[in-house]
Amino acid sequence: MPKITVLPHPQLAPAGAVFEVPETTSICDALHRHGIDIEHACGQVGACSTCHVVVREGYASLSPFGDYEEDMLDQAWGLQPLSRLSCQARAGAENLTVEIPKYSINHAKEIL
Ligand code: FES
Repeated sequence: MPKITVLPHPQLAPAGAVFEVPETTSICDALHRHGIDIEHACGQVGACSTCHVVVREGYASLSPFGDYEEDMLDQAWGLQPLSRLSCQARAGAENLTVEIPKYSINHAKEIL
């Protein structure tokens, strides 16, 4: 089973986390199952970008992009070359290192 290392996030995972998940588990589901409450405003159907993560290691092993994932990612706060929607990206055989951005588009709106 691939191991997911979650980098520390001030609110969601202050100490970071490390856990294993079965292959094909979405990163969003994996985070929730391990007590990391990443936002998922659209109910994990790939329509909001609040579940945006940056996959620092293992990016190439993830499932391919969904039909509209790249369009939704364009709206994510802090988009980077290794960004994915965590509800659409499923773990493959390789270990992953995941960074949860400091803000989602929901948080960014609250600050503005
Ligand atoms: S939960 Fe909305 S795009 Fe992932």
